[in-house]
Amino acid sequence: MRIVSVAQQKGGEGKSTLTIHLAAALAASGSRVLVVDVDPQRSSAWWFEHGPEFAFDLAADTDVANLSRLRELPYDVVLVDTPGSLHDLPVLTAVLDVSDFVVLPSKASALSIAPLTRTLNEHVIPRGLPYRVLANKVDPRQRDGRGYRDALGLYDLLDGAGYEHFRSFLREYKIYEDAAGEGMSILDFPASYSRATAKAQADLSAVTAELLTVWANNTSTERTSA
Ligand SMILES: Nc1ncnc2c1ncn2[C@@H]1O[C@H](COP(=O)(O)OP(=O)(O)OP(=O)(O)O)[C@@H](O)[C@H]1O
Ligand SMILES: [Mg+2]
Repeated sequence: MRIVSVAQQKGGEGKSTLTIHLAAALAASGSRVLVVDVDPQRSSAWWFEHGPEFAFDLAADTDVANLSRLRELPYDVVLVDTPGSLHDLPVLTAVLDVSDFVVLPSKASALSIAPLTRTLNEHVIPRGLPYRVLANKVDPRQRDGRGYRDALGLYDLLDGAGYEHFRSFLREYKIYEDAAGEGMSILDFPASYSRATAKAQADLSAVTAELLTVWANNTSTERTSA
């Protein structure tokens, strides 16, 4: 089993959105998936409870003793949605101590970079945890010959500073708000729902496929059962 935390100190970068969508995509590919919501805001728990059934399970738990025993549960992937502010350090510490991998969604904006690198430098890299930063809310309109400006900007900057990142990214589309409102994932919408639906779904597939490739090529991203 693989325990994956979705973390980033800055609020609103897409942690809960990404957690629910990776869970939906991995469950659709046949994995037994559990989402653990350790955020007192309970965003992913609310999402989970307000729509039709998802193909994964969810537990909202901030009990440090329970979190340290996540590996005993019968799942292939456990995705942990963490709070925006890291004020609840004992919970974050318990989660990261048991994690195999960290995904950090981030906007390309200047305001997102400092919290992102702080999260990496203070919590992820000192633990030796494999991780990838994912460019989120990439502006679909800002595109030139090289590609999408937001994603390229963030990834170039991370390359320059020696941080690991995805190659794929998620563009910013309104369907994510609609999905949250309906308690569904964007994969549950027919491609005819809006002009951007198929594009948003293609982004999610690319990110999920890349994650599975990273995991397949790096066995150290999975610990054996304790
Ligand atoms: N790729 C995207 N395109 C459009 N909207 C997005 C995208 N990703 C996230 N959002 C929206 O951005 C908002 C914040 O996302 P989300 O709640 O997932 O962030 P968060 O990091 O979990 O925030 P917090 O730190 O408060 O827990 C939500 O309204 C969500 O629908
Ligand atoms: Mg959240």
